[in-house]
Amino acid sequence: MSQTSYPHLFSPIRIGNFEVPNRVCHVPTDISSANPDGSVNQRVITYYEQVAKGGCGFIIVGASTPDKATGRPTVTCVAVDEDPLIPGLASLAEAMHRHGAKCSLEIQHPGRQAAWPRHDLISATDQVANLPASAGHEVVYASAEAKGKSIRAMSIEEIYDLIDKFAEGAWRLQQAGFDSVELHAAHGYMIAQFMSAYVNKRNDRFGGNFLSRMRLPLEIIHAIQRKCGPDFPIGIRYSGEEYVEGGRVLEETVRAARLFEEHGLAFLDISAGIFEAPGPLMDPMYYPQGWNTYTAEEVKKNVKIPVITSHTLRDPDYCEKILAEGRTDLVGLARQMVADPYWANKARAGRKEEIRKCISCLVGCWQESLMIKRDMRCSINPAVGDERFLHFGPAAEKLKVAVVGGGPGGMEAARIATLRGHKVTIFEKSEELGGAILYCCTVHGKSKMRWYADWQRRQVARLGVEVEYKSVPTTEELKGFDAVLVATGAAVKRPDIRGIDSRRVCTFQDVLRCKMKNCEYWPKGGKAEPAAVGDTVLVWGDYFGAADAVEKLAYEGKKVYVVTPHREFASWMEPVHKDVMVKRFAGGNGEALSGKTFAHPVTVIPDSSLLEIKEDGEVILIDGSFQRSALKVDNVVLADVVADEALFRKYAEAGLTAARIGDVKQVRNLRGAVTDGANLG
Ligand SMILES: Cc1cc2nc3c(=O)[nH]c(=O)nc-3n(C[C@H](O)[C@H](O)[C@H](O)COP(=O)(O)O)c2cc1C
Ligand code: SF4
Repeated sequence: MSQTSYPHLFSPIRIGNFEVPNRVCHVPTDISSANPDGSVNQRVITYYEQVAKGGCGFIIVGASTPDKATGRPTVTCVAVDEDPLIPGLASLAEAMHRHGAKCSLEIQHPGRQAAWPRHDLISATDQVANLPASAGHEVVYASAEAKGKSIRAMSIEEIYDLIDKFAEGAWRLQQAGFDSVELHAAHGYMIAQFMSAYVNKRNDRFGGNFLSRMRLPLEIIHAIQRKCGPDFPIGIRYSGEEYVEGGRVLEETVRAARLFEEHGLAFLDISAGIFEAPGPLMDPMYYPQGWNTYTAEEVKKNVKIPVITSHTLRDPDYCEKILAEGRTDLVGLARQMVADPYWANKARAGRKEEIRKCISCLVGCWQESLMIKRDMRCSINPAVGDERFLHFGPAAEKLKVAVVGGGPGGMEAARIATLRGHKVTIFEKSEELGGAILYCCTVHGKSKMRWYADWQRRQVARLGVEVEYKSVPTTEELKGFDAVLVATGAAVKRPDIRGIDSRRVCTFQDVLRCKMKNCEYWPKGGKAEPAAVGDTVLVWGDYFGAADAVEKLAYEGKKVYVVTPHREFASWMEPVHKDVMVKRFAGGNGEALSGKTFAHPVTVIPDSSLLEIKEDGEVILIDGSFQRSALKVDNVVLADVVADEALFRKYAEAGLTAARIGDVKQVRNLRGAVTDGANLG
């Protein structure tokens, strides 16, 4: 083995009857990219082959249904419920083995959380669930409203039928050459529905006390052992804690771990959460690195079989540390592998600065894909789901390209265009690259956004892209370029109301500016001070700028009002982030988070707008029923934005070959900007 700074991360480990070359594990991630019949296709193979090529030692393929008819976790998940699926599964296993990885596949029945079918869902218990952050959300809403009871308890016959289906599915994997099988018993899916006292209210042999709730997974394990033989390694993924009242806590998790070991399991994969409390399950940006390690650590103290920990593991130094400290046997990475499947090889080669760290945004891989019945995408890795970005070669004609605006969309365009052989210059009006991301530094819970800006800045430097700082090029200066890509982002909207020019009015950008003059990110210093605002602030708007300004100001202890024209604030926001945000607005926090909470709950004023801002701080509001009201505040923060098109129009009118990237085209989000940048680059 070559020298590495991570001796623990890159040491082998035995799982059941096979050896894994290193401790890096791809924990299951349903990429929802299979064919409609659940068969493996080239998209699925390409995704997992990239992870194997990237040096990951143990790959657990994401949730795959043992019974399409009664439950698919996502509409195009992999299926293992028919023999004709075996050849595709075999090609998938071969693709991973080709690069030295060992592989498993997670069998999952979603039960009440099915994305398909949309009606007559089955579970441990009759229930009406409301799970807006799950991929089956629309099902639960629609059915619950229409019928009042959408989810029914399975009969004993149905349970035994499902047990057989799990065993048959595992057998198909074994035939296909997989090294092991993993059972999905986490996150409130079917097996978890039986294991959790919070969901399982049965009073037959599959419900009630701990051992009865454990009967379903244990019977499945025995059925697989009978079908596949005792040597076929079986692992299980379940949540260390569920973070709901009456749900599983760590003590019971440890008890279950001992039982699983006694019943012959080969490994334990300790995840987190249930969809009723989606924060710990999906880890939005608020969650710090390795926050869930404590659960695996406790389990590991009580068993001898290998234990995997997961959730917001991004940094190889941290992973090496928890392995060296004996807190886990393998480190499980899900979204990190989506954002950069070459994580392991980059770490091993000492190139950790080149790792494109997942920023936990859940936009590309969840909100704008699996949740709305699409195959997976990533906000910062355009190659996910779009193979053009894996195989692009040099452009037929080398062009001189100007990128106006050095935000994420502009930098991505510059990166791809340079890789294709074009000669690129970025013109950035400020003194640093990063655009809107740079404001995230000062917002509690959003610092991960900086990881991406930093990665892009390093790529731009590495590729030798020319950058003109403090520069807004004239049409004359751009005449020598073959193409002009305009990525000037969005500008703050200034509604034409009385008092808009008052000294009490500032923008969200003024508020989010960082005080520091000379940090590692701003070595040149020289920024303006953030706006000084009083103790009571009204934020006017309903998009990222508004949410960020509210978080920053409320975090600092201010009393914050937020005025939105909509019936609720942030309906555009990724739902797991929104779940945590709403809890923080109320003065609480996301489950398992221990960061500072707000001294004053945030007041949302829905369905309203401002009519006037008076000099003494009185603000006149008007609502959707034309009712007026008044509020006294120290400051008003403008936080709505519009596309900043002025430069684009000027260039286009001057006859330049100009195109738009990101918010200047249409105000969206990071993913929109990066995708535009990649496509135009
Ligand atoms: C798009 C997406 C798909 C996921 N699919 C699965 C899955 O199929 N099975 C599973 O056990 N967990 C699944 N998870 C949860 C992840 O495995 C992981 O526990 C979670 O994302 C937190 O870890 P991370 O920070 O490494 O991503 C999924 C998460 C995401 C975001
Ligand atoms: S979309 Fe966001 S959360 Fe998902 S993998 Fe990409 S960066 Fe990570």
